[in-house]
Amino acid sequence: MDERLTLRSHLDQSASQTPHGAALGDVIKAIAAAAIELAALIADGPLVGIIGQDGDVNPDGDRQKDIDVAADAVIRRALRDTAVAAVLSEEAVLPETLRPTAPFCVAIDPLDGSANLENNISVGTIFSVRPRGNDVLSTFFEPGTAQCAAGFIVYGPQTTLVLALNARVDIFILDRRAREFLLIRPAAQIARNTPEFAINASNRRHWHGPVRTYIDECLAGTNGGGEADFNMRWIGSLVAESLRILVRGGVFLYPADARPSYREGRLRLLYEAHPMALVMEWAGGAASTGRRRILEVAARTLHQRVPLIMGSVLGVRDVAAIHERTEPMFDNSDAPLFARRGLFL
Ligand code: F6P
Ligand code: MN
Repeated sequence: MDERLTLRSHLDQSASQTPHGAALGDVIKAIAAAAIELAALIADGPLVGIIGQDGDVNPDGDRQKDIDVAADAVIRRALRDTAVAAVLSEEAVLPETLRPTAPFCVAIDPLDGSANLENNISVGTIFSVRPRGNDVLSTFFEPGTAQCAAGFIVYGPQTTLVLALNARVDIFILDRRAREFLLIRPAAQIARNTPEFAINASNRRHWHGPVRTYIDECLAGTNGGGEADFNMRWIGSLVAESLRILVRGGVFLYPADARPSYREGRLRLLYEAHPMALVMEWAGGAASTGRRRILEVAARTLHQRVPLIMGSVLGVRDVAAIHERTEPMFDNSDAPLFARRGLFL
């Protein structure tokens, strides 16, 4: 086996740095073990009966695939023997209580981006760990700053695990033969200002003014007087986009828009935006709704959505600056009049 540090050793070495550090390490080890199982299941896909068939609708209204249900079961099973009081999953309406007096609560998106699986595009698991408050349910209504660890796994050409713990972000890849995650990128740092953006541009006609303004400026590039010519990416898989940002920077946007079901964006606060925001900030990047720091937002409902703009710190700052210059009441306005160089600014 490679001589690199294993995830296990990394967790054992960090155990003294947080309250219940050894127990927290065990929670993360359990998620990693589940991820190793899922990586194999996903790689085999139709060969082991995973055919991507649609089933029920989950609490967010997304159609569940057979693999979503399988992934949810694998992770719940793995967490059962750890210090977890309750687990909230994208795949169930309410949190499941495991050990009510245990010190941690976990929120998970067991298989993010599963609609991509049929065409063999990277998918992943997202996790967020927070200390249990006085009662289990209220723990999930604390702001994202309450998280003590978070991260995600990408099942792609390699299986990559990104871990935000103790105010730093480390990236591991799975050594399949040894069934161990090995450290490949210690203390990852996001580039401050990569001219690259990711957004589902097919929604442009629904966007609010500030988002249109920012993207229009990216597209205009130096010809439009901007500082750089931007590149664009859209994978449609949050975990894959997040890993790209960690490795080479850029800005990801899933904004709110004018459609009734996108009034608060598309992504879920507790098991998508909060954990990604912790990863971004602890790697030197940023995450915002456009108007607020994501980590300061507290959920009002368990499966609440939130606009998510994250990545390189200067890019996120630019998007937030445009929002600041636009009153929220004009968020719904058409771009030209309220654009950065428009009549009202
Ligand atoms: O979990 C939601 C998700 O699948 C994310 O992984 C991804 O960022 C987004 O939805 C893709 O959205 P769209 O369908 O608009 O491309
Ligand atoms: Mn998801």
